[in-house]
This record gives sequence, C-alpha cells and structure tokens, in this order.
Amino acid sequence: MSQVTEYKIATIPGDGIGPEVLAEAIKILEKVSKLYRHKFTFIEVQAGSVAIDEIGEPLPKETLKVCKDSDSILLGAVGDCKQDALSDHMKPKRALLELRRALGLYANLCPAILHEPLKEICPLRPDIAALGINIMIVRELTGGIYFGDYGRKDTELGFAAWDTELYTTEEVRRIAITAFDIARSRKSRVTNVDKANILESSRLWREVILEVANDYPDVKLDHMYVDNACMQLIKNPSHFDVIVTTNMFGDILSGIVSQITGSIGMLPSAGINNGGVGIYEPIHGSAPDIAGQNKANPIAAILSAAMMLRYSFGLSQEASAIEKAVAEVLSSDARTEDILSEKAYVVGTKEMGRLIWEAVE
Ligand code: IPM
Ligand code: MG
Repeated sequence: MSQVTEYKIATIPGDGIGPEVLAEAIKILEKVSKLYRHKFTFIEVQAGSVAIDEIGEPLPKETLKVCKDSDSILLGAVGDCKQDALSDHMKPKRALLELRRALGLYANLCPAILHEPLKEICPLRPDIAALGINIMIVRELTGGIYFGDYGRKDTELGFAAWDTELYTTEEVRRIAITAFDIARSRKSRVTNVDKANILESSRLWREVILEVANDYPDVKLDHMYVDNACMQLIKNPSHFDVIVTTNMFGDILSGIVSQITGSIGMLPSAGINNGGVGIYEPIHGSAPDIAGQNKANPIAAILSAAMMLRYSFGLSQEASAIEKAVAEVLSSDARTEDILSEKAYVVGTKEMGRLIWEAVE
C-alpha cells in the first residue's frame, strides 16, 4: 500500500464572503484527499476584521504562529469598510501585508485565463476575445511602495504626505528569476512592465531584469511602460504570456485582467517564495454587500486551492483535476451571478461548489 502524505493547511476564512467561498474550496480539497490518498489537516485561524473584533488585532500572534508552522495557507478574504477609519496598523488589510512580510512571500502569481464559455461575457470586442487570454502576472509582493518609507508632515502649505518606491537589486533579481522560470513552463515570453522613462527605481528594476535575462536566452523578453501595458491588455491581450512587475503596478494590472477574463470572482492567486509555505487566496475582496447570501462565486477560492496543490505541494495532477472540473462546470449552463450570460441559469455559492465537487475525479 502506498504511503499517505500529510499536509498541514492553515485556513483563514476572514471577512465578508471569505468564509463562504473558503468552505467550498475545503470541501473540494477533502474530496481530492480521498481520491488521491493524501491527508490534509486543516487548522482554522482568524485574521482581518473578525480578528480585530474578537482578538483586538488584524493578525493575532497565534494566527501567525500557526501559519508559520503549516505547509501552506488558504485564505478567503479580509477587509471591512467599517474599519477603514482605524489607524493604519489596525486596519484589517494590514493582516495581508504582515503575513506577506513575515513569511517572506515575495512573489505573487496571478494566472488570468479567459475560459472559452466566458468569452460571451468578456467586455472586450469579440474579435479580440476570440484570440484568447492566458496570462501569468508575476508581481513583486514584499517590496516597493507598499513597504517603503511613508509619512506626513505639517508644512506652510498644509499637510504633506509621501510613500516611497524603493527596490534593491536582490529584490528585483529574485522576482525576475521566478518570472523567467515560469515562462519556461509556458510560452517562454516575458513582458517586463515598469515606468523607466520617469522613475529611477524603474530604471534599476529594468537593468536587473536585463541582467537576469542573459541567463535565459531561450526566453523572449520585451518591455512596456505601465500605461502602455494597460492599453495593450485591452487592445491586444493575446500578446502577453508572463508579465513581471512591481508590487503596485501588479496590483493594478491584476484588476484589469480580472475584468477582461470575465469576473474578479474567477481569479486565484499565490504568494510564494523559493520553497516553504505559501499563501493562496482569491484576488477578490470580502464583498460585504453580498456576504452571507449564497451569491459569491467560489471559483477563485477553488482555483486558489488548486494552485496550492501545484506550487506548495507539487501535486500537479491533483491541481489539474480541480482545474478540469471547473472548466467542465463552466461549459454547462450553471453560473453564479457575476458570470451569468443570457442562456445560463443562476446558481448560488454552495450549488456551484457542489457541481465542481461532483466533477472532480
Ligand atoms: C491584493 C489587495 C491588497 C494589495 C491589499 C488589500 C493590501 O488589493 O491582494 O491585491 O493591494 O496587495
Ligand atoms: Mg489588489
């Protein structure tokens, strides 16, 4: 009899629709564990707004400890606008930034695929959508303006405030290596997105990208300024294979790709580093307006679980089984509200989860 491998997974349901979508992802992982004979142990911990309410801080120490001791982390969503006015270190979103920093998760992978059956809801012109979209955004996640020096001061002209974009060569090198390595398993094309015509930090960024590219003569590299990249994602998205970019530009570009591929409810993401624990989460937020109503699309959370199997556990076959199940259900007429099309019918979070669960084999 083959040996059963055990994986410890910290789960953070978080706020808003987080718990609902995460529950569906967990059910699917449980099915995978039975089918493929793995042992997944789930340890639920809190972060975000619920953690502020119950424990008094967005990322409680216990949560961080459990995450550090786990093989990976699966997160629903954090954030709640009722706490937007809190001081910076007490905001729910702080939990995400602290987790990324504490675990050194410097690479964010966001795969954006326009599934064939969703072409009809793609907001791009049909002839553009017909060419297909399959992009991997590789976003730097623990540096840049999100973590640079910031502050406020009183001046003669009133308050002034600043945030600083700073990158070291090493920070750029490691994200570049991640991007080039991933490109080799895809179409071997990397587009570097920066603002090197204006920013000194971008000029250093580009120099290092070019240096790393020397080690990957088989990968085709091009460069775009971020404003042009936004235009090309709308006009000619099939140009892109892998995009490598900074923390803030990556955040913005992920927003664009979430729309041109149909819905933000579809896109998973991974925060990883060179081995060790990773964090897997949908790119959508907590959507408090539809929370608790069985309306949210669980697909982003389910695909995040698939990414976890692939990138943290090396279980590609199992990951593909989940992705295949999602594709199969999308080709039926069952749709959550966010991806509804004319001839389809609406299903809720649980029903969508159930259909995918049934399709996993
Ligand atoms: C994301 C979010 C976060 C970010 C916020 C909530 C910190 O938008 O995961 O993309 O900008 O990184
Ligand atoms: Mg974002």
